[in-house]
Amino acid sequence: MAYSREDIDRVRERTDLVELASEVTRVKRSGRSVMAVCPFHSEKTPSLSIDPARGLFHCFGCGKSGDVFGWVQETQGLGFSDALELLARRAGVTLTRDPEASKHRDRRERLVDAVERTVSFYNERLRTADDAGHARSYLRSRGYDADVVDRFHLGYAPDGWEVLVKHLRGAGVSDEAITGAGLASRSRRGGIVDRFRNRLMFPIYDVRGDAVGFGARLLDGDGPKYLNSPETPIYHKSRLLYGLNWAKSQIVRSDESVVVEGYTDVIAFHLAEMPVAVATCGTALGEEHLDLLRRFSKRVVLAFDADEAGAGAAERGFERSVPGDLDLRVAVLPEGRDPADMVAEGDVDDLKTAISSSMPLLQFRIERELARFDMAEPEARGRAVRAAAALISLHPDGVVRHEYAVLVSRQTGVDVNAVESTLTGTRHGTETPPAVDEGPLTGPQRTEREVLRLLLANDTVIRSYEVSLDLFSDPLNRAAFEIIMPLVESIEPGMGPDLGAAIGSDDHSESALLRSLAMQQRPLADADDVMKRLKQEAVERRIKVLEADLDLFDANADPQGYSDRFERLIALQNERRELRSRE
Ligand code: UTP
Ligand code: MN
Repeated sequence: MAYSREDIDRVRERTDLVELASEVTRVKRSGRSVMAVCPFHSEKTPSLSIDPARGLFHCFGCGKSGDVFGWVQETQGLGFSDALELLARRAGVTLTRDPEASKHRDRRERLVDAVERTVSFYNERLRTADDAGHARSYLRSRGYDADVVDRFHLGYAPDGWEVLVKHLRGAGVSDEAITGAGLASRSRRGGIVDRFRNRLMFPIYDVRGDAVGFGARLLDGDGPKYLNSPETPIYHKSRLLYGLNWAKSQIVRSDESVVVEGYTDVIAFHLAEMPVAVATCGTALGEEHLDLLRRFSKRVVLAFDADEAGAGAAERGFERSVPGDLDLRVAVLPEGRDPADMVAEGDVDDLKTAISSSMPLLQFRIERELARFDMAEPEARGRAVRAAAALISLHPDGVVRHEYAVLVSRQTGVDVNAVESTLTGTRHGTETPPAVDEGPLTGPQRTEREVLRLLLANDTVIRSYEVSLDLFSDPLNRAAFEIIMPLVESIEPGMGPDLGAAIGSDDHSESALLRSLAMQQRPLADADDVMKRLKQEAVERRIKVLEADLDLFDANADPQGYSDRFERLIALQNERRELRSRE
């Protein structure tokens, strides 16, 4: 039975060997290394070494070694397929067990091959071509020398419509692979044209080091400053981190990764000899990115500029995952400066200091919240404490909440007991929110709850959408939406909503639902994705209803009514098509 390489890799990526091992034997972490008592031969002191980042094990006692699949095969006496199936179930990966799998693999290889040829082509152009002179002088102005061009395989996409297409065709690459890899798009005339023109090219590699796409910076002329590869079978922006391929070993060694804004910041960290930086590629930091990073280090430092870190990704509700094993932190950079600027201006030491003095995300948010108030007045101090308490109450650990109460007390001058009692008020004295049985949620249910969670976090992106009641189908979700929406509309985007007062502690199931959603530990999903799904699902529902209605409708009795409905159906179908085409 052929399994696709993609599926196997996905299972491997999502499986934590250390966790797996600790289910059958004693595992000891000391510093960077993980040792376990070898289950394959008899011993008392651990001599089996585990490499968590690569998911490999090796026993220095008996010589057995292998990967996550080998581990399961050996410890449970299974064949490869069964081990794969078992780990796939654990990881929540659906395997495509069809004979198409080898075709998938071939396709992936063809696409990666097309991208890799393109990387070389653009790189060669940047280094030698006459028409790349302005690109080379841009590099010099940024302080990038030939070594940087080499290390990051930077390139130049010439200013033409078919330069790359012709080159790749000449090398035997099919049009299907060229467009499939997002390197060219169909022109109106039916041919294909280069996607990237007159841009400085940053190749993007996946965690294994396969070239999968590009980020492309505008050099002159009009257009977006950065253009990225579109989603392709090998380029999934929600799962890609620029630089992880170069950074992963150092991240494991130093047990810390740094998330920065973009390509140039990643390169800056390398130049500053801190090769632990990664960046998202044209999207906000999301759940899947953190899942990926967490496999290499538990400590993740967000290093955006002060405003960005405050209003953007850092506030997407991630603090709720802190009590998990993820230590999510914020490094405060000087206002208006990114790591690339700092390194270019020779302020490497300041950058290092900023990283090493990072603080927990929650602390960062509390301090920022407090800074908005004038502590000279009792009323303002009261509001400050209340605002901070709303944030503190997000933390599920009582001890940590107390520590933050002390911090707020110190910074506001308000007695710690008063702070604590505000906290209790916010949480209604409940240690854990009443569990709402979420049951097996179907698609729309799940999407609607994710929207509610984003609203609860007062996510800045979701605030830019018009979220309306008719997008919700489930009665409980609708009731919850009607509570939360007016509340969200009454506060500034990005501020911590004061959940306590508005949601109340009553036993209505919609309040209980909101409390339980607010306490969920998962980071928030990407608001753009969730909204797109919400709209799609709402349109699908309306189409179904209308279709059923039309089926039963007597067109002869009421021709006008029939054609009205028909028109509405066409309009909805157009809307659906448009939503799909935006994918
Ligand atoms: P910058 O705007 O600082 O880009 O964004 P830059 O190339 O350094 O431009 P100047 O010279 O300062 O004006 C920093 C990073 O943010 C990402 C890029 O990865 C860039 O490296 N970015 C920026 C985008 O992805 N898209 C954008 O539209 C802007
Ligand atoms: Mn910049």
